[in-house]
Order: sequence, then structure tokens, then C-alpha cells
Amino acid sequence: MTLLSAERVRAVPKVELHIHLEGTFRPARVAELAAIAGEEPPRPVDRLFEADNLADFLETLDWVCGLVRDGPTAEQVAYDFAAYAHNQGIVYAEVIVNPTHWSGLSTAGLFTACARGFDRAQAAGLGDYRLLPSILRQQTEQEARELVEWIEGAGLDRIIGLSIDGNEEAAGRTGPRFAPAYADAARIGLGRTAHAGESSGAEGVRDAIELLGVSRIDHGVRCAEDPAVLAMVLDNSITLNVCPTSNCTLLYSSLDDHPIRDLDAAGVRYTINTDDPETLGITLCSELMLVSSHLDWGMADLVAAQHRAIDAAFCSDEDRAVLRALLDQTVGT
Ligand code: ADE
Ligand code: ZN
Repeated sequence: MTLLSAERVRAVPKVELHIHLEGTFRPARVAELAAIAGEEPPRPVDRLFEADNLADFLETLDWVCGLVRDGPTAEQVAYDFAAYAHNQGIVYAEVIVNPTHWSGLSTAGLFTACARGFDRAQAAGLGDYRLLPSILRQQTEQEARELVEWIEGAGLDRIIGLSIDGNEEAAGRTGPRFAPAYADAARIGLGRTAHAGESSGAEGVRDAIELLGVSRIDHGVRCAEDPAVLAMVLDNSITLNVCPTSNCTLLYSSLDDHPIRDLDAAGVRYTINTDDPETLGITLCSELMLVSSHLDWGMADLVAAQHRAIDAAFCSDEDRAVLRALLDQTVGT
């Protein structure tokens, strides 16, 4: 039984750090884009993401994003996300965008359009949403370094960090391959996060910390399988961007099997996120309600989770102070 009402959860100014733009297309938008492109969806659009493994799911993302074939449409997709996020009370988000899914656009075309959509949204009074370009696990060392080089040259202020996503299980051990790109990212001042400890086990978390130098891990929950890696997460103050429903779709049969309670008890810094809200049929508020109920959270626990997200954000310390002040003002200190 949760102590928090949906209205109270919604009213808290929230930060989300693990969300993929690719996972935010509403079925109506997919249907519209498919009609414009003259393509037949592989399944009815409201059942498009009934994939039973990560590989199928990622393939469907490729199909959906491939329907976006010009800048204005990508800008609209970014704006759609901003409208959703604002409606959830998300005042700041760092949105992962993996250019390999978007076969109809160049990297520059994609990120310029997303930045424009987020600029327009913020100017219209929606939240402050930033971009994390993402490497696909299957890419080469050279492709990863080229993405970072492109980020450096592009000078888009909305881009503030680097991510890796995709299927770690299928790609095998890739930490050593991506270490040079992450070193480049550190040199140019980007924040660094990586998916690990989802389709990879605890060893993926270890590599992300030791070889990629991340301060955050997307998922990371399987660090709970190895006490030495869990200790490494704690010792390095790594923040795990946990996505409970996503994990319960791909990894665990229910929240009762999910390690969140153990991670919480161990003192791990973690945040709650949606991963791919539309494809999972969830929102950040519904996910927070779920966790509140599972862990018996009161308002102080919810606010503490938001402070952890603010602490782990890749924004400047000035922006961080603004987010802290907004949270404190709204909930009272
Ligand atoms: N891309 C979008 N969602 C993902 C997930 N859950 N794991 C890896 N890559 C992703
Ligand atoms: Zn993810």
C-alpha cells in the first residue's frame, strides 16, 4: 500500500536520466509516419512492441525510427517527448538518442533537429531536456570515436554526455573496444554513462566502471549478483539508473525478484526511470508509484530519489542548484 497519491507524485518536480527518445513514439504517431512512408507495420501499432527479447525489441525500434526521414519530423518527435515529459512534471531530463536506429537521417540532421525541438519546447515553457548521443554495442572502436569527434565539432549545447546502449549479450565483452571513445569523451568534458548489468551480468558493470570511467550506469542492477562488483559501485559512488518495469519485462518475472530492495538496503545510489515509456505502456509517475508501493516510500523517500537524480545529472553545477532549489521550494525543506 503506497502512502503517495498520484497527484502528489505528479506535483514533485522530477528529473529523469534514463529514457530513450526511440522508446517515446506514441502509436498514433507511428501509424501516421508509416502511412506517410507507405510502409506496413510488422504488427498492429498498438501491439508493435510485444517483443519477447531485447534483440526483437531493438529491431522494432529500428523500423519505427527509420520512418523519420526529415529534420522537421525528428524535431516533432523531440517536441512530442517534451510535451509528454512536461505533463509528467519532469522538469529536466537527459534523453538518450542512438543515431544507428535512425537510418533516414544523418547524425548531424538528427541531433540538430532534436536540439531544435527541445529549444522550442523550453521556450514554450516546457522543461529543460538535454541529449546523450549513444553508441550501439555492436559498433566498432572507430565508429564510437567518430561519434565523439562529431559531438566535439558540432558544439550543440544540448548535448552533455555520452551513452552506450544495445544488446550487450549479443555483442560480447566490448568494454576494451569503447575505452578510447570514453577517454575522448572525458577529455572534452562530456558526462559518461553506459548500459550494463542488463543483458550483461555484473562483469559488464565492472568493465563500465574500470574501462569506461562512467559515473552512472543505465540499469546496472545485475551488480547485485557479485558482492565485489556491488562494492565497486558503492566505493565509486556510481549512480544506477534503474528501470523497474523494463527489467521486469526482460530480466525478472516480477518486482519481487528484482534486486531493487537489496540495492536500496546496501546504500547504492539509484534513480527511477522509464527506459522506453511508450513501448512499455508506462510513465515516470506510474513507475514512481510502483516503486513507492513496493518499497513503502513516503514523500521523503521520493524527494531523496529526486535529489539523487539531480546529483547525478550531467548539467552544470549552476543548473543543478536551480533544480535543487525548485525541488526544495515545491516540497518544502
Ligand atoms: N535501447 C532502448 N532500450 C534499451 C534497453 N532496454 N537496453 C538496451 N538498449 C536499449
Ligand atoms: Zn535503456
